This record gives sequence, C-alpha cells and structure tokens, in this order.
Amino acid sequence: MSGTATEYGVDAFIADARAIMEVEGGITDREAAVRQLEPLLRHALAGPGWTDPRYATTVDGGRPGFRYYRNDDGSLNIYGVLFRPDHPTPVHDHVTWGLIGVYSGAQRTTRYRRLDHGDTPGRCDVELVADETLTHGATYPLLPPHDIHRIEVLGPEDGLSIHVLGADLKRQRRRIFDVAAGTCEEVEGVSMAR
Ligand SMILES: [Fe+2]
Repeated sequence: MSGTATEYGVDAFIADARAIMEVEGGITDREAAVRQLEPLLRHALAGPGWTDPRYATTVDGGRPGFRYYRNDDGSLNIYGVLFRPDHPTPVHDHVTWGLIGVYSGAQRTTRYRRLDHGDTPGRCDVELVADETLTHGATYPLLPPHDIHRIEVLGPEDGLSIHVLGADLKRQRRRIFDVAAGTCEEVEGVSMAR
C-alpha cells in the first residue's frame, strides 16, 4: 500500500467500528454506540480506501458495489452501495441500527418518523422529518423504529453510499412504505438499489 494507508480511512474505521460494536455480551446502548461511531465515519470518508479494488464486489447479478467488512454472525456489516440516477429506492426501513455515509454523488435523502405503534397489520403512519440533498462526507444514523428513508441520486453521477449496519439486510424481514396511503408491506431478501 502507499503512504496513504496511514491516513484515517476505511481500514482504520473498520478497526474502530469493531472495537465499538463487537463487545463481549453485545451492545447495551445501540444509539450511544452509533453516535460514537458517526464522527469516526465522517472522518474516515475523507480518507482512503473506499473505492479500493480489493473491496470491490458485485451484487444482485452484476451490479458493482463494495464489501469492506462483515463478521461471522452478521451483526456488523460495512459495505458500499452504488445508487444510480433515475433509480430511486422506495421508502423503506432496515429494522436494525445503521449509520449511513455519503461518499459520492448528490443523494437526495428523505427520512421519516413512524407515528403508529404497528397495532394494525399493513398500517404504517409515517411523517417526513428530513429532506436533504447530501454529498461527500455527510452522515446520518438510522435507528428503529424511525429508520425509514428513501435515497434518490440527483445528477449524472452514481452515488456511493457507505452502509454500517447491525444485520445482513438480505436476511432481514423489513418494510416498504406507501407514505401517502399510510400503508406498508413486508419484504424479505430484496435490494432497494435498482
Ligand atoms: Fe436503506
């Protein structure tokens, strides 16, 4: 590796994320841990390694992406998703703690708060809490039950989104929301990137 390997980037962030999240007996205060991790991710996004070919992978039958770290029980996943212009995600949740970082592109990011308590199957009342166009270096936490969001890449460039998550989303039962209708449906094993 070049001299940039000593800068705070993806490798140093992985080490810090493991130190914070992989504690004996599990995390007791996830929100505090995510808040601790957020400035580290912001710092690391300015550093090297996020597009290093050794982390490059393909997902969902050929779409490029990056896998930086995944532990054996799937409780810490650090990877990069490339969102394409004109392919917005649906409004969805992850049903696990998360920290998202924007590495590239202009990513219009809308986030929602869940209002109901999930008493009625198929009913999901959510309200918009943030609608921002985020660029390189931006970070935000996603903490259930308010981890509902949508990403839409604006402009011509792909958007690389760094995901730090507490579960493997491919195995996670989660939801897609119809905000206007106040409804949601459960999905499993699907990607929100299109
Ligand atoms: Fe997402």
